[in-house]
Amino acid sequence: MITMNAGTPQAKEVPAQITEYPRKFVAKLSDLEPDVPFDFNYPDEGEYSDNMVVKMGVKAGGGIGPDQDVVAFNYACTHQGGSLYDSYKADTKSMGACPLHLSTYDLTRHGILISGQAYQSLPQILLELDGDDIYATGIFGLIFGRKDNLQG
Ligand code: FES
Repeated sequence: MITMNAGTPQAKEVPAQITEYPRKFVAKLSDLEPDVPFDFNYPDEGEYSDNMVVKMGVKAGGGIGPDQDVVAFNYACTHQGGSLYDSYKADTKSMGACPLHLSTYDLTRHGILISGQAYQSLPQILLELDGDDIYATGIFGLIFGRKDNLQG
């Protein structure tokens, strides 16, 4: 329970809403080649659910694995949904430039914007490692075109 309007005459307790993301197998860590993205869908198969996981070889925010260098991001640019498919840059560990208005995102720092028209970071897929198996367990940020990541 959480308290709405705490400290006011309108204060009341309401049930907290908890978002439950699916836990989905993505890939085997040992199958990932350095700087070669592997594509997967998450949290469903709906629109803008295309993502990639990549082993970058440098420590990254939210990175998993022994070197904390494995991260996953959504392919839809947060500006107007341009596809960032096939735009990973190994030399700068970034995605972009977006083909529509050139936004570029830093994958070592939770997908923060480097340059371009977007004003939100690229949604990062939260990962867990179980032995050699990589699982997607949530999303940090809102996927373009959705008002709720789980209602594609
Ligand atoms: S849609 Fe990507 S920068 Fe505009």
